[in-house]
Amino acid sequence: MKVTAFNGSPRKNGNTSIAINTVLDILKEEGFKTEIVHIGGKIVKGCTDCGICKKNKDGFCAIDDDIFNDCLKKMYDSEGIIIGSPVYFGSITPETKALIDRAGYCSRANDNKLKRKVGAAVVCLRRGGGVDAFNQINNLFYLNQFIIPCSIYWNMGLGRKIGEVKNDIEGIKTYRVLGENMAWTLKKLYT
Ligand SMILES: Cc1cc2nc3c(=O)[nH]c(=O)nc-3n(C[C@H](O)[C@H](O)[C@H](O)COP(=O)(O)O)c2cc1C
Repeated sequence: MKVTAFNGSPRKNGNTSIAINTVLDILKEEGFKTEIVHIGGKIVKGCTDCGICKKNKDGFCAIDDDIFNDCLKKMYDSEGIIIGSPVYFGSITPETKALIDRAGYCSRANDNKLKRKVGAAVVCLRRGGGVDAFNQINNLFYLNQFIIPCSIYWNMGLGRKIGEVKNDIEGIKTYRVLGENMAWTLKKLYT
């Protein structure tokens, strides 16, 4: 079984990457294949509402000159999906939002192709807007019939400079318990 994580931060080795890898380390210990895909700072265009996904019904997006369709293929090929983002002005990053909008629309245009995958949101921030960003990612999961494992708190950790999230003991514990519960849920559903 595979879990693919998407990192919406342009800081490839920043706090969100550390947070995501904290979850993935637990999943690896539990025997899962894992991959992290860095989308932050790359071109992920927004949905244009062209409606071609609903006409073509080939599973993919008509915009094919950016990294999105490769990301979507990785989602289709995984049982578990993690989407992580830093908080920027109370929100997820633009790349993360574009990924969510297009994945959600393509899935819904194709008989809910992402249905019953296990999805988890991971957020990093300095101080405020964490729950908003967390909910923004969960909107993809809720509207596409995902199964969402939980943890001991909203899945967020605090830090500004790269590496500072490691000092947030409760945040790191939250990510680790999320990894345990994601592994448990995936095994119940898929073995
Ligand atoms: C443009 C920008 C906007 C930000 N806005 C917020 C914010 O609204 N709330 C907050 O708590 N932190 C905010 N931050 C801080 C980041 O969320 C924080 O540094 C986070 O750890 C970055 O994660 P990364 O290392 O994965 O990029 C902002 C940072 C940037 C660059």
